[in-house]
Amino acid sequence: MTNGTPITLEIFKGEDEKLAGTTITKFAKAGITTMEQLAYSTPREMVELTGISIKTAEKAVLLAQQIINPGFITADILHSRLDQVTKCSTGSKQFDRILGGGISVGVITELIGEYSSGKTQTCFTLSVLAPLPRERGGLGGKVVFIDTEGTFEKGGTERLIQIAKARGIDPDEALKNIIWARAYNSVHQHTLIQNLDGICREHDVKLVIVDSMLAHLRGEYLGRGTLAERQGLLGGMLGKLLRLAGANKVAIVLTNQVQAKVDGSGAYGDPNQAAGGHVMAHACTIRCRFWKGRANTRLVSVIDSSYLPEEKVRVAITEAGITDEDGSFEEITEDDGFLETCVELEKVMNLPLPIKEEDETSD
Ligand code: GTP
Ligand code: MG
Repeated sequence: MTNGTPITLEIFKGEDEKLAGTTITKFAKAGITTMEQLAYSTPREMVELTGISIKTAEKAVLLAQQIINPGFITADILHSRLDQVTKCSTGSKQFDRILGGGISVGVITELIGEYSSGKTQTCFTLSVLAPLPRERGGLGGKVVFIDTEGTFEKGGTERLIQIAKARGIDPDEALKNIIWARAYNSVHQHTLIQNLDGICREHDVKLVIVDSMLAHLRGEYLGRGTLAERQGLLGGMLGKLLRLAGANKVAIVLTNQVQAKVDGSGAYGDPNQAAGGHVMAHACTIRCRFWKGRANTRLVSVIDSSYLPEEKVRVAITEAGITDEDGSFEEITEDDGFLETCVELEKVMNLPLPIKEEDETSD
């Protein structure tokens, strides 16, 4: 059992060489250097990444899983471990409270709601706060923002500057900590997600945002006949994000719009539900539902959680992003000099952008 510090694959080298040195080198070349990365992967993925045999890959993944988590543990140990989970502030103390302290690393958090309900504003606020040191409510690392709707190019960067300034954070530094990529269609989104491992390690990324997770999939796969293919692509992306969260200790935040329920159950409760069906629901550990409220306020609640109370709190969208209902938030007064280089994800990964689809130019 580990105490949270990554164990390198080098420990396999030694007297009883459980894995050949050449295999470890192949893993290293593919960017797999820690036991956690290996334990959260599938043997098939390792074959594709490194070219080793499926038998070796199965043995390696199993060995790593045994080291990371050799079996059952008592609930008190689990509890103390969960207690130490790092959380990122949302910008609102009330919102943080119902999340048990904020957005957690190691899991996927889903922000669900109608248009203009505050999902992107929450992502922006998190992007500004996550690079702050832990004692100031951040995660002390960079942010990757996969933008499927072109929000950054439609005034998003201005909004980030405004949020940073209102919170006493150097706006230039804030922007430098956000690694941005526009996903032009679902296949491009898939490629960006599959390439996140390297980016996260290289740039010490602690928060990955996909805003929105399903917009492209819903627009491109129309009709029931395409559902299986769509859900397959979605499952592939979510699987990758889950492993990234677990292996690299990253917080993942996805946004998702709601759609009308079609099975008639809407007559008795919420007439809308999150898109993405069971595949999305199972991957996302924490689901936050947003509703529009009076004036600049929004209601938010954690839904479907087995351990967080389903309490609705009111937050506000202000100059400082998401804040408490009365506009208050934790002030940050000192300039820490904790921020570094800015890189666009596409540049770093040197990925050719797919040609923009014609029907996308109109929106
Ligand atoms: P979709 O992406 O359309 O599904 O919606 P969303 O849930 O992402 O909505 P978003 O988070 O973008 O919220 C939009 C709302 O935020 C708008 O109704 C605006 O009222 C509010 N908003 C956006 N920018 C600002 C701003 O600079 N200041 C203030 N006070 N409010 C803003
Ligand atoms: Mg949005």
